[in-house]
Amino acid sequence: MSKVFSVAIDGPVGAGKSCVAKKVAERLNAAYLDTGAMYRAVGLYMLENGVSLEDGAAIAENAGKARVDVRYEGREQRTYLNGRDVTGELRRPEVSLASSAVAKVHAVREALVNRQRELARGISLVMDGRDIGTVVFPNAEMKIFMTADPEVRARRRYDELLAKGDSVSLEEIWANIVARDKADMTRAISPLRQADDAVVLDNSHMTVEEQMTWFMERFDRIACGR
Ligand code: DC
Repeated sequence: MSKVFSVAIDGPVGAGKSCVAKKVAERLNAAYLDTGAMYRAVGLYMLENGVSLEDGAAIAENAGKARVDVRYEGREQRTYLNGRDVTGELRRPEVSLASSAVAKVHAVREALVNRQRELARGISLVMDGRDIGTVVFPNAEMKIFMTADPEVRARRRYDELLAKGDSVSLEEIWANIVARDKADMTRAISPLRQADDAVVLDNSHMTVEEQMTWFMERFDRIACGR
């Protein structure tokens, strides 16, 4: 394997991409980039500045005003919007909705894809998102399409929220996951799809450790040119 490499991990919401991507990065001594956080930061900008999420032209017009930066504290990614650390605000439900809206806009995608390529220059990087293997890094050394049954993804999210003390219904979460899958897969620009040369990891019935073993076996094979 060349000294600098990129690993692209794409897949639907709730497939557990970030958990495995972070561990893989650590194991390979590479950086980890959560590209979803960048779309979320742009979504937050639109919310804070009263830009209608229904208005693609207005989002495109304002896209250039949202400067997204990424810095690292140890291995932890911190995401900045116009110089302000917004990491703690990005998982709010309204920011999730806003991120889906901005992700449909060409000007936003173009700016963020350029930024992602810049961030990757000269370093080994594990990246997760929706279009990494298809658009951002079509030449990534390793491409994984990580997925799981919608029921399993909904159940994981449900358990996570219950553990945090939130009262939610499984049906509601399931419906939300199905709706977000649809939005990701049917958008006109860079829809979520498996790259032709990606390897599918369906982790519906796998533990994180099993996924790591699966990953490292394949990575070693690629690294040895087999
Ligand atoms: O992975 P996430 O839920 O944090 O992503 C937030 C939104 O950004 C979601 O609507 C999908 C979109 N996204 C994208 O279109 N392309 C990426 N590379 C990453 C995320």
